[in-house]
Amino acid sequence: MASYSIEVAYHPSAFRILGRQWIDHLVDYLVKVQADATVIPVQPQPRPSSEWMQSWRERLSAASTDPLALLDAIVAGSTHLHHPGYVGHQVSVPLPLATLCEGASALLNNGMAVFEMGPAATAIEQAVVRWMTRQLGWSEAADGAFVSGGSLANLMGLLAARQERAGFDAWRDGSHAGPPLAALASAQAHYCSGRAVQLMGWGQSGLIKVAVDARFRMRPEELEASKAIAQQQGRRVIAVVASACSTATGSYDPLEPVADFCHRHGLWLHVDGAHGASAVLSERYRGLLKGIERADSVTWDAHKMLMMPALATGILFRDGAVARRLFSQDASYLYQDHTSYDLGHRTIECTKRMMAMPLYVCLATYGEAFFSDHVTACFDKARQFAELLQSQSDFDLAIEPQCNIVCFRYLPSHLRDADIERINHWQSHVRNRVLHRGSYYLVQTQLGDKVFLRTTIIHPLTTPGHLEGLLDELRQAGAELQGQ
Ligand SMILES: Cc1ncc(COP(=O)(O)O)c(C=O)c1O
Repeated sequence: MASYSIEVAYHPSAFRILGRQWIDHLVDYLVKVQADATVIPVQPQPRPSSEWMQSWRERLSAASTDPLALLDAIVAGSTHLHHPGYVGHQVSVPLPLATLCEGASALLNNGMAVFEMGPAATAIEQAVVRWMTRQLGWSEAADGAFVSGGSLANLMGLLAARQERAGFDAWRDGSHAGPPLAALASAQAHYCSGRAVQLMGWGQSGLIKVAVDARFRMRPEELEASKAIAQQQGRRVIAVVASACSTATGSYDPLEPVADFCHRHGLWLHVDGAHGASAVLSERYRGLLKGIERADSVTWDAHKMLMMPALATGILFRDGAVARRLFSQDASYLYQDHTSYDLGHRTIECTKRMMAMPLYVCLATYGEAFFSDHVTACFDKARQFAELLQSQSDFDLAIEPQCNIVCFRYLPSHLRDADIERINHWQSHVRNRVLHRGSYYLVQTQLGDKVFLRTTIIHPLTTPGHLEGLLDELRQAGAELQGQ
């Protein structure tokens, strides 16, 4: 391994030279990957294998003096979200400016647990949190924090529910100091809500699944029955987690009737808006979130619909005092007083990245309309894509999309009367073939007994033409499979 001196590694001129080359490599990459050609496949060829893992172990121990060569190898071995054929999981195609902010945040490395370890970062986070809470229609009393991801935020929403509604001090005395607790969530809720209740020690049946309708939205009229089931099991229901929207199909639970139910029974309402809360920015689609202002807590990922690099999640509380009460630990080496500016009291994390900074800089630079237009455009394109699918005899749309997630099956004529197992296998095989061909990246999900291809139209540069091309690509992949 070549040796560098510490002085060289930290030298500003060395950083300038390397930084310029580093950016040039990334710019060249963006030019290629956005070119809408198969110059770079969306999904690189390697499959998970011990050889692939070994090749990266070898790079680590090889004598290497060139971080740019490593950068190129890492880029080549990554999934290319900036490719307009990326219609996969709900992960932002990050704004280049936001990625520059990430670099600056890493360099400054202000850990933020206490105000003095991040004066600008603390103010920035609070400003972005306020911007988000205002979008939700909440008053100045609302507050929150930025945390590492929707899963963590949902856990925090449920921790707050436990603290505020359990009727005993679980934080001080432990989860088992009172009756067993439970929360209700739609059968389509993201798995992390189940994980959160398990982390809190409520066990697997601490999350009661509420039935959904034909469009995979929670059926609020089922809430009473689900609560009764929990009670029969000797559990005390303290919260409802509403999905806005769900992951698999992007379905929005009807928040108004769910909020009515919570109000009637004194339950905490947590809205998992990891993907879908961004719709609040769009005049056209805001209605999907009607009632969100009545939630007690909301999860909102900026790294899904707001073009931010992962991770950047707001956990937001209608009553900001809850955020400030949520965690309280004494640590004289860190907290000298419990001022409301020390964000370490509001999150599970202690040190964290300046995670609101990219959104702050991009909002200040591009303005709010830039973001609302993006949300509206993605949702619009999904509707157009669904119409296209419906007009094709060899495609079968799962449900009309409510956001920018579209699930469908490819059913060429020879499969129309096939059994479900064969049809399901076909979806997976065709998807794998498309990935192998390299022009698109899409995923799959199971709804009931049926496997569906699943797309999220999230790349700002993905056009209706690309989406038409995806159908041709699926047909081509299918023809190749049949020819084998
Ligand atoms: C509805 C929903 N909630 C929570 C999560 C988890 O969020 P994260 O991946 O930021 O932890 C996801 C991720 O896709 C999601 O779709």
